[in-house]
Amino acid sequence: MRIGVPTEIKSSEFRVGLVPASVREITAHGHEVVVQSGAGAGIFADDAAYQKAGARILPTAEAVFAEADLIVKVKEPQAIEYKRLQPHQILFTYLHLAPDADQARGLLASGATAIAYETVTDAQGGLPLLAPMSEVAGRLSIEAAAMALRRSSGGRGVLMGGVPSVKPAKVVVLGGGVVGTHAARMAAGLGADVTIIDRSLPRLRQLDELFEGRVRTLASTLESIETEVFAADAVIGAVLVPGASAPKLVTRDMLKEMKKGAVLVDVAIDQGGCFETSYPTTHAEPTYEIDGIIHYCVANMPGAVPVTSAQALNNATLPFVLKLAAKGLAALDDDKHLAAGLNVRAGRIVHPTVAASLGFDRLEVRPFALAAERRPITNPPCAPLPLRGATRRAGPLHNRSGPAFLFCIVRRPESGARQQVRPVVHDLSAASSFSPPSPSASPGSSGSRISHGASIGSVITAIPMERLANVSAFMA
Ligand SMILES: NC(=O)c1ccc[n+]([C@@H]2O[C@H](COP(=O)([O-])OP(=O)(O)OC[C@H]3O[C@@H](n4cnc5c(N)ncnc54)[C@H](O)[C@@H]3O)[C@@H](O)[C@H]2O)c1
Repeated sequence: MRIGVPTEIKSSEFRVGLVPASVREITAHGHEVVVQSGAGAGIFADDAAYQKAGARILPTAEAVFAEADLIVKVKEPQAIEYKRLQPHQILFTYLHLAPDADQARGLLASGATAIAYETVTDAQGGLPLLAPMSEVAGRLSIEAAAMALRRSSGGRGVLMGGVPSVKPAKVVVLGGGVVGTHAARMAAGLGADVTIIDRSLPRLRQLDELFEGRVRTLASTLESIETEVFAADAVIGAVLVPGASAPKLVTRDMLKEMKKGAVLVDVAIDQGGCFETSYPTTHAEPTYEIDGIIHYCVANMPGAVPVTSAQALNNATLPFVLKLAAKGLAALDDDKHLAAGLNVRAGRIVHPTVAASLGFDRLEVRPFALAAERRPITNPPCAPLPLRGATRRAGPLHNRSGPAFLFCIVRRPESGARQQVRPVVHDLSAASSFSPPSPSASPGSSGSRISHGASIGSVITAIPMERLANVSAFMA
C-alpha cells in the first residue's frame, strides 16, 4: 500500500503523522511511503531523514493526496484537505467530529473512509491513541495555568507551589482520566493544592490510591463543582464522554462567583469545551478574558512540544498503520478496536455516538453545501421525488477527478417494508442546471445514462461515470 504524509496546516501545529523511524518500519514491511517536502520540519526531521528511512518526497500536499491510498495525519483535515480526499482513500488521524458539522459534511461528501484516532479502543476499555496526547496535554495544562496565573499575563498573581508561609495555588481538575491524572501529577509536583472531580467512583478510588493522599478526590455533582470552582485559582477542564460533545460543567453565571484573575484551562476544547464560555484559541493567542477570568482553550496543545508528542503519538499509532497498510479496510474486520475508530464510510457517519452527537441520520448523506460550492447548480439542491412509502432525494455532486454526477438517496420508509425502486443516475458534466425527472418519468429518459434497481434503505453515492456498470457494488 502507498501511505501518504502531508504537512500539517492547522495553526501552530508542528507535529507530523509519521516520524522517520516509523517510515523506516513501514517501508521495511514492504510498503511505500510518500511524504510532502518539509512535512517533518516542525520536529527537525528534514527530507533527507525521510529519504534515508525509505520515503519518497513529493513537492506538494496535492501530490501526496493524489498518490496515497492511506493518508496518515495528526489533526483533523482542514477544508482544503477534505476537498482533496477521494472515495478510495483511507484517512487515519484525529477527527473530533462530534462538535464539527462542517468537517463532517466535508468528509461525507468526499466519499472517503475516515478512521479517528480518538475513538480507537483497547482491551481495557481505554482510548490508546488519545492517551499519549492526553498525557502531554495534561502535563502542559499546568504549565499553561502557571503562566496564565502570572499578573503579567492578567492572572491572579499566584505561584503554583506558594512558598513557606504562603498558601499554594488551589487547582481543581474536572475529569480524572488521562489528562486529569497527568495534570494532577504536575500540579502536585509543583506543590499546588489539588482536587480531582470525576463522575466515576471506581476511578476516584484508583486516583486516591495512586496519589496516596497528596490529591483530594470528589464525586462530580453540581454542588461539588460549584464549591470547588468558586474557591479555585486554576481549573483544568479534562472531562470526556467518548464520541460526544463535552458537558458544560462551568456556566457563564458561575464566572461571577469565581476569584478575579483565576484561570480556566479547557483541555476538552477539542470536544467543544466543558466551560460554557470556552472557544478555541491558538498557541499564537492562547488566552482571553471574560468577567475577569482568564481562559486558555488551545485545541492542539501537544503541538507546542512536537518532538515529544509526535514520537509519543507514533509509538501508539504505528501498529495500526501497519495493520491498515497490510490489509486495507479488511484490517477492521480482524480488529474490533481499530474498527471502533471508523467514523465515516462511503458518505455515512457510521460511529453511532458521533452520528447522534452531530444529529445526523446515519443513512443520510449531506454533501449538498459542498457540491454547491464546487459548482453552482440552479435547481434546488435537494429535490424530493415522491414515491409511495419512501423518500427519494437527489442532488448534484461534482468530483474534481471527473464529471459531475447526480446521486440518489433512497431512504427506508417508516414502516421498514422493503420495496423495489429504481434510482436514476444522471451525467451532469455538460449541464449547468438540472431539473429532476417527474415521478412518472421512466428510468433512462430525461438524459439519464443508467438506471438500476435497488432496495429501499440502500444508499448510492458519488458514482464515477466509468464505474456505473458496477453500480450495485456501491449499494450500502
Ligand atoms: N486540547 C488538547 O490539545 C487535547 C489534547 C489531548 C486530549 N484532549 C481532550 O481532553 C479531554 C480528556 O481526555 P482524556 O484522555 O483524559 O479522557 P479520559 O476518558 O481518560 O478521561 C475523561 C474523564 O472524564 C470523566 N467525566 C466524564 N464526564 C464527567 C463529568 N460530568 N464530571 C466529571 N468527570 C467526568 C470520566 O469519568 C473520565 O474519567 C478529551 O476531550 C480529549 O479530547 C485535548
